Amino acid sequence: MNNFIFENSTKAFFGKGCVKEYLTCLAGHYGNNVMIAYGGGSIKKNGIYDEVLESLKKARKNIVEFSGIMANPTYKKVLEGAKLAKENNVDLILGIGGGSVIDCCKAISLAAVYEGDAWQDFWMRAGIIDFEPLPLGVIVTVAGTGSEMNGGAVITNEEAKIKTGRDYPRCNPKFAMLDPTYTYSVPKRQMVSGSFDILSHIMEIYFSEPDGDNVSDDIAEALMKNVIRNLRAAIKNPQDYTARSNLMWDATMAENRIIKLGKRTDFECHQMEHQLGAYTNCNHGEGLAVLHPVYYRHIYKDGLSKFKKFAVNVWNISPDGKTDQEVARQGVEALAGFIKEIGMPTTLRELGIDETVDLKAIADSCNIVPGSYRQMTHKEILEIFNQCL
Ligand code: NZQ
Ligand code: ZN
Repeated sequence: MNNFIFENSTKAFFGKGCVKEYLTCLAGHYGNNVMIAYGGGSIKKNGIYDEVLESLKKARKNIVEFSGIMANPTYKKVLEGAKLAKENNVDLILGIGGGSVIDCCKAISLAAVYEGDAWQDFWMRAGIIDFEPLPLGVIVTVAGTGSEMNGGAVITNEEAKIKTGRDYPRCNPKFAMLDPTYTYSVPKRQMVSGSFDILSHIMEIYFSEPDGDNVSDDIAEALMKNVIRNLRAAIKNPQDYTARSNLMWDATMAENRIIKLGKRTDFECHQMEHQLGAYTNCNHGEGLAVLHPVYYRHIYKDGLSKFKKFAVNVWNISPDGKTDQEVARQGVEALAGFIKEIGMPTTLRELGIDETVDLKAIADSCNIVPGSYRQMTHKEILEIFNQCL
């Protein structure tokens, strides 16, 4: 394993009823002004909003509301939230939602305190956070990104057509509350998309060196099998508590840095999806589902032994009487089959992206990361996009 330093400062509260049980007390640790931040209103329909407000009222908090955080949150929305937080001397930001809400809140927690150009200094380049961002607590309502227990905030700058994020430990939420029953109301399409995002994060970490015996890869295999099994169960019964609990913690485990320890990590597929998102606003998990099988058909021969291990250990493919290449390829096709089985899009066209979209401009704007088994070129990324059409 490679050397590492590990830290995760987020305190996680997990389980049915955890918000009711702990939020009032937790909020008591912060000043009086709490900004609750959320998305398009699902929390008002499913009762989460009322439950949170009741707990905050018990803690006698002044509440400032910041709503309408969109999927793929924009930097413009971040600045709007930062202005509101400053005007109201907010002491605690409480984000209630999925990755989009949580990421937007992390960015607000920085921008509300920082005097300079936050976009240039923390997103365009890796900045140094030598100040305390506004404290942030989060209540997760959909399993997927794992943003609740890391310092990453993926933000879209619409004018620059760039969607990007970096993991700043100082931006880790102070606390994260995860009640699996809160995810019962997530529509199937979003549940599947979030779950595929979990699988994608694990694969992006797993398919990178070192490939020798290491505990991070072993945990990754267990997590992948858990996601596959429990997503199938949650599709059958959306109110299956066991399935929803597993998916919720799988999401956190995939992105709380634990399975990244000692690994280079890849995340090239995420780089490609983020730029597709920057240009077309496509759904994150769905973009990944279209890209992954095509990307892996492209690189599997460069990481043959690992792709073989994936086929055998995750998809139970028998290696008997087959070449390594055959087994490895069958693993990639098993992944593609699973994507079809769970009803996800398999082409860019299904995401509304066709020949009229300037795929070359998107490909040229993608970051190239060093972690993959083969470093991509912009030309190859364009080939992959064209194969995804
Ligand atoms: O906006 P509302 O009305 O709340 O509806 C949301 C939204 O439409 C809905 N939803 C959430 N909880 C619900 C619910 N509907 C009914 N019942 C509930 N309990 O779900 C929709 C999608 O929410 P969103 O937050 O956009 O989804 P997700 O969690 O997949 O987040 C995606 C964003 O996170 C970024 C993505 O790029 C994308 O911008 N990522 C963040 C990462 C990180 N910080 O670590 C890593 C990821 O790779 C990813 O890039
Ligand atoms: Zn993701």
